[in-house]
Order: sequence, then structure tokens, then C-alpha cells
Amino acid sequence: LFAGDWQFFWAAPSIETLPAMAGIEVAFAGRSNVGKSSLINALTGRNALARTSHTPGRTQELIFFEGPENAGFRLVDMPGYGYAQAPKAKVASWTALIHQFLQGRSNLARVYVLIDARHGLKDVDLDVLNTLDKAAVSYQVVLTKADQVKASELDQTVAATAAALTKHPAAFPEILVTSSRTGAGMPQLRAAMVRLIGE
Ligand code: GTP
Ligand code: MG
Repeated sequence: LFAGDWQFFWAAPSIETLPAMAGIEVAFAGRSNVGKSSLINALTGRNALARTSHTPGRTQELIFFEGPENAGFRLVDMPGYGYAQAPKAKVASWTALIHQFLQGRSNLARVYVLIDARHGLKDVDLDVLNTLDKAAVSYQVVLTKADQVKASELDQTVAATAAALTKHPAAFPEILVTSSRTGAGMPQLRAAMVRLIGE
């Protein structure tokens, strides 16, 4: 699945412009700048597949990427939430789009909720976890930018996050620790997705 070429497939600025459902979709959610687009690039081994930026608010649409040879598998990059500096109306419309997509897409097999390892779970993250719990969409928390924190701090964040997740029925108890910069956690994340499609 991750050996072949991944390609851009579709960009949806609104819930009305989504592509027809086909195959299995896996989406990446998280606060602005948490590293969603970078993670997709690291996973697929394509540096500039998803557009990244050091300024929050880079991804402004739901962006669909298609796996190699019609594997029937798509990755969905999403706008970030919780970005206070963007115009209020934009933040509100991105947030609504994210929540609508997450609860209304029946071929959405898994959501990876990305959390910055330096910051841990925030209230805006909990809103998304609650939406996923209500919709019974299975999700797993992925800590990003692990290269930026000390091992001891990382252990604490993992423990605190795991404790919080016990209250969330649709969450995987296991937390993945990743860095798009060093590639840490990528084999585990790829393996999890391969298991999803039963390859
Ligand atoms: P939005 O689309 O704006 O919501 O952001 P995003 O979540 O897609 O984040 P993006 O991938 O654009 O990355 C944001 C910034 O974080 C960029 O400057 C990346 O280079 C940086 N970044 C992403 N992943 C890592 C990582 O694992 N380690 C470090 N040190 N920096 C990272
Ligand atoms: Mg992005």
C-alpha cells in the first residue's frame, strides 16, 4: 500500500462538494499546525503531496489522496481547527466542515487525531473526540513532533493522554508517537492502515 505512488484525487471546500464514496477512507484531524499534512507526506514518502507551512491555516479544504493501483484506499487531509488568528467566519466554517464530515461519512474507517506532543490534549481536541464518540467512528490519537520533546516529558504526555482517553468509547487505548521529521512511528502507522484493508 505504501510502496506505490500516491496521488492527489479531490479537494472539497464544502460538504456539498465531496467526492462520491468509494473504498475506505482514513482522515487526519488536529489543531492547526499540528502536522497533519506533514504526516501524510511522511507516510506516503512524497515530500510535497500535501501542502505544508510553518504558518497555521495552510490546509483550507478536505483534500483526498488516492493510493496506488486502485487499492480502494484514500487518505483525507483536513483543515486544522482552533486557529485563533484566522478570521472568525473561516474558523467556524472549517470547524463545521470537519465535524460534518467526521460524523456523516459511512466509508470513513478510521480517524487519526493528531496531538502536538509539546501541548497535549486541548478543549478543541475534546470537541472532536466527542463528535467521533457520538458517531461511533473509531479513532486513534497520534502524538506529533515527538522530536521536539524530551523522553521524560513524552512519557508524561502519553500517560496523561491515555488516562483522558479512557472516557472516550470510540478511541483506541494505544497512542502512537510519531515524528514526520525523523520518521519515528511511521512503520507502526502504516501497519495499522494496512490492517484496516486486510492486506
Ligand atoms: P494546517 O494545515 O495549517 O492545519 O497545518 P498542518 O497540521 O497540516 O501542519 P503542517 O504539516 O503544515 O506542519 C506545520 C509545521 O510543523 C511545519 O512547519 C512543519 O514543518 C512542522 N512539522 C510537522 N511535523 C513535524 C515534526 O514531526 N517535527 C517537527 N519538528 N516539525 C514538524
Ligand atoms: Mg495542513
